[in-house]
Amino acid sequence: MRTPLVAGNWKMNLDRRAGVDLAAAVRSHLEGLEGVEGAIYPPFVYIEEVARACAGTALAVGGQDICDQEVGAFTGEVSGAMLRDVGATTVLVGHSERRHVYGETDEKCALKVRRALASGLKVCLCIGETLEQRDAGQTEKVCSTQLHGSLNGLSTEDMGQITIAYEPVWAIGTGQTASPDQAGAAHAYVRGVLSGLFNQAVADATRILYGGSVKPSNAADLLSVPDIDGALVGGAALTADNFLPILDAATEVRVR
Ligand code: 13P
Repeated sequence: MRTPLVAGNWKMNLDRRAGVDLAAAVRSHLEGLEGVEGAIYPPFVYIEEVARACAGTALAVGGQDICDQEVGAFTGEVSGAMLRDVGATTVLVGHSERRHVYGETDEKCALKVRRALASGLKVCLCIGETLEQRDAGQTEKVCSTQLHGSLNGLSTEDMGQITIAYEPVWAIGTGQTASPDQAGAAHAYVRGVLSGLFNQAVADATRILYGGSVKPSNAADLLSVPDIDGALVGGAALTADNFLPILDAATEVRVR
């Protein structure tokens, strides 16, 4: 059974006050909804305060990244244990900005996934192709490579802690959303890869979120596609006016 999940990736935006206020608005709105789960990913330095504001509620708080090592001389990095310590329960791994701006490889993502699971964190693994790759007909190959590279060797039990976010790079922050058909085809393909890597039960149980210019005006259409189990939202997650209607749209989706 896949309950829709709407997650907000704040990236490097908002300040402490704005973040805590937004989290409080999302938390109280979510309390009035049924059939949808919510998560927010604030910048590291705001996680503790935001997590405190959300403690004991259904709104999960997570990190946008995690160090691939457990502890030690890794200047600038944040460990899984530290994330847990400040109240995070989930973490993004392999966001396209980490892959393309900071050069993260699938090998790095695989290490991060394993470190996150070892720390008791859930993982939202992000994958997706660039425009060049899509134009070259490589969307499926890229997604398959990223999934194999990051998830290979995990147990079916581990997969219970993993959500996939399909985020075509050309749709992130561009206002150019994948059409429901384009996204649906990619999601169905991703589910097939999960079935091959693990089994059909894992494929059926794993949530696959869509990310890339999701906003109130297109959320319902995207979320009505059978293989789209929620959204990972960037720009529209930065205000309650935009994010809350996307949560509402997800409640219309039948649990699958
Ligand atoms: P936008 O919603 O701003 O396109 O960002 C999507 C994203 O990268 C979420 O992780």
